[in-house]
Amino acid sequence: MGIRLAIITDLHHGRDTGKVRGPEALGLLKKIAKQICDLKPDAVIELGDRLTDDNPTADTERLVELAEVFKELPFARHHLSGNHDMLPKAEQEAILQTNLGNHLVEMGEWTLIFLETYDATAGGLLSLETLAWLEQNLNKVKHQAVIFSHQPLHGQWHQGNPYFEEEYREHACAKNAELARAIFEKSGKVRLCVSGHAHWFDLRQVGGIPYLTLLGPTESHWSNGQVSQAWSVLHLDTDIQLEQFGKSPQNIQIKNPSWQNTASAAVNSSSELTTIS
Ligand SMILES: [Fe+2]
Repeated sequence: MGIRLAIITDLHHGRDTGKVRGPEALGLLKKIAKQICDLKPDAVIELGDRLTDDNPTADTERLVELAEVFKELPFARHHLSGNHDMLPKAEQEAILQTNLGNHLVEMGEWTLIFLETYDATAGGLLSLETLAWLEQNLNKVKHQAVIFSHQPLHGQWHQGNPYFEEEYREHACAKNAELARAIFEKSGKVRLCVSGHAHWFDLRQVGGIPYLTLLGPTESHWSNGQVSQAWSVLHLDTDIQLEQFGKSPQNIQIKNPSWQNTASAAVNSSSELTTIS
């Protein structure tokens, strides 16, 4: 019962930026791809910042290297672009053989909705066209939906985050996220929002909806200078379970139907099972 999704984000294939070990990205993706094959998920989802952008020639070479690994996975794939995925969208789509625009897929009783936020700024943007598309399609969802985006959409301060607490504070969440949250809450169909971008594991509830942010495998800040090797499995069933693998494992459960009518609250990340109830 239910569906299982393998999720990876913020690979940052490219130069070493200090905390983010880009030169290890390709090797880590190959290792994670083997684990994903063993898992046999219903789909693989990649949430952007595949690269740390450098120049078009190097970026193209690196994207081709990643795409060769992704295309070997015998599962449905869904990708989104992050703020560092700066090659032309059509070129990236051709290399990855995927759709990087707004799109959705129905899997059993779940609708997975992928929102495009790329606008050549760090924070990204949910354009008015994207918001109109979201509202129209959320209206048609029969049962329940999970929203995926590169940048978080909860709109809250990233206190304690090494990148977004201060220096990039204004770029932590996508612009117009408050308009998207109003659409989510009005629909009553959004069970969970999942993002990358912030380079940490974070779970909080806003307006009764859980917002989950996942860690990327090349980030070293949270694992004593070692790459986190993080990737995750999301199990959507009556309840929702998320397990993050790697050097800083996480395991959370979001109970149904308690996601409705819950007050805004932050949930601390922990390697032990965290339950929203
Ligand atoms: Fe990133």
